[in-house]
Parts: sequence; C-alpha cells; structure tokens
Amino acid sequence: MRSLIDIQELSTDEINELIAVASDIIDNPKKYSEVCHGKKLATMFFEPSTRTRLSFESAMYELGGNVISVSSAESSSAAKGESVADTARTLSCYADIIAMRHPKEGAPLVASMHASVPVINAGDGGHNHPTQTLTDLLTIFREKGRLDNMTIGFCGDLKFGRTVHSLISAMSRYSGVKFVLISPEELKLPSYVKRDILRKNGCEYKQTTDFEGVIPELDILYMTRVQRERFFNEEDYLRLKDRYILTPDKLENAKPDLRILHPLPRVNEISVAIDNDPRACYFKQVYYGKIIRMSLIMKLLGLEV
Ligand code: NCD
Repeated sequence: MRSLIDIQELSTDEINELIAVASDIIDNPKKYSEVCHGKKLATMFFEPSTRTRLSFESAMYELGGNVISVSSAESSSAAKGESVADTARTLSCYADIIAMRHPKEGAPLVASMHASVPVINAGDGGHNHPTQTLTDLLTIFREKGRLDNMTIGFCGDLKFGRTVHSLISAMSRYSGVKFVLISPEELKLPSYVKRDILRKNGCEYKQTTDFEGVIPELDILYMTRVQRERFFNEEDYLRLKDRYILTPDKLENAKPDLRILHPLPRVNEISVAIDNDPRACYFKQVYYGKIIRMSLIMKLLGLEV
C-alpha cells in the first residue's frame, strides 16, 4: 500500500511512467473507462478548492469508479474535534483511496500513517502539493517534449506557495535546469527549500525582484497568486498582492516558445489579455491535471489496463 505525500517519494522513472500512461489516456480514453470499476475514492478537503477536488473526482469517474466526498471541515466530525488520525481510519472503512487537503502542514502524512488505504496529499498548508506538481510536469513535458535543460522562472508568492515548493523539488532532479526566483523580498523562497533542495542538488538558481528583466531568459514562467489566507495581517497582503502582474507588454522580448503556467486560481497576476496568447498554458494545465490524476489513482491502486 502506497501513499503520495511528497513528490520526492516518486522516482524520476515512476514520473516518466505516470506521464506515459497519461499520454495513453489522452490518446485512448475509452480503454480506461472501466479500470476502477467497483473502487471508491474519498475526497476530504478542509480548505477551499475547485480544480484539485473536482479533478480527482472526475478522474475517478472517468476510470469507472465512484466518489464519496467531505468538502469542508465544518461539515465533518473535524468540527466536533475528531483527530485527523481517527478520520483517516474511518475513511479507510469506506473507500479504497483518499485524497486529502488540510490547512495544517503534515496532516496528510499523519492520515497516511493511520489509514489502511493509500492517502494522496492534495495540498497541506504552505508546504507541498505533489499532484499539482505532476500536473505541471505533464504540462511541461507535453509542451516542451522534455523535463531537463531549461530555465524556469517562478514568480509571485514563493514563500507560501506550496505548488512552487513541490515543483522546485521535482525539477531539481533533472539536469540542466536553471531556476529564476522572482518575488518581493518578503515572499522569497523559504531557506529550507533553498538549502535542502536547490543547494543540496547543486542546482543553478538566482533570486531577483526584476520581473521584466529576466523574462527573456525563460523557457517556462510559473506564475502564482499571493496566498492571502496564509498572511498574518491583511495590510501586508494588500501591499504585496499586485506587485507582479503579467501584461502583454512584458512579453515583448520573451522567447516565442515560452510557456506560461499557473496552478490557478488566478486573482490579478495574469492579465486576461494574455489568455489567447499561444504561450499561455494554464487552462490546458487544468485538463492535464485530471489526466495525470487518473494515471496516479491507477498506480496507487495497482491497476493496469
Ligand atoms: C493551488 C493550491 O491550492 O495550492 N491551487 C491548486 O491546487 N490548483 C494554488 C493556489 O491556491 O494558489
């Protein structure tokens, strides 16, 4: 029985396999339409979500399985004081696999230690979000045909953005990847990510506040929203939220084959005028998120076609 809490738990070979199955699902969706027949996915989301929860649920339906769902802490026994461990034991009696989002960092890990079925971390606080990373890797691979030898810029809230932490962790294992970290001083990448991931793996990286200046270097631009819910005070959020906004003029000297990704939701950080630019990939990314989750559910349940 295997869970997915941190993207590092998957080897690069396993990531390649997940991508290969995802590509086959894209080409032959019918082949996969009954593979999870008789299986149930439980989604337990204690933080807001549109894409992650619904992509898990639609992934399971498209594999022929069923879904049960807790969509908020208030509507579950967590509101009565039940521990994550007890909730995980309980859901294991109802479902074959659990996808869990929680505001506390480490909660899905605790759940995985007490569940008797696989637990997938669907986002824990400002920490990690491995299935968004699989989504991002599939998107980059489909768009670029490779995951190595590229310059990837991360822009926005690199401090609290869990998708950034997980994607940096995954990309640090490929050769020739350069990281450009664009954020206000106050929202810089946490030092533990720089130390334990970037420096430990000998990755080339630079930190900057100069968004426009670095855009021409980039093969991938990963935009993120400022994570309002993780701020201690609203004034800081208001001061920082619109620091970096991607507008068409900023793309004037960008590479023609740049790809712009965003885990979504977008607030203000990408102008809607970019949406029809062929370099914008964030809605394709949403589609890939469903497909890679199909591939992941099959892997964790040990199912093949
Ligand atoms: C992200 C998340 O929840 O961390 N959203 C998502 O899952 N696609 C990004 C965000 O909320 O900013």
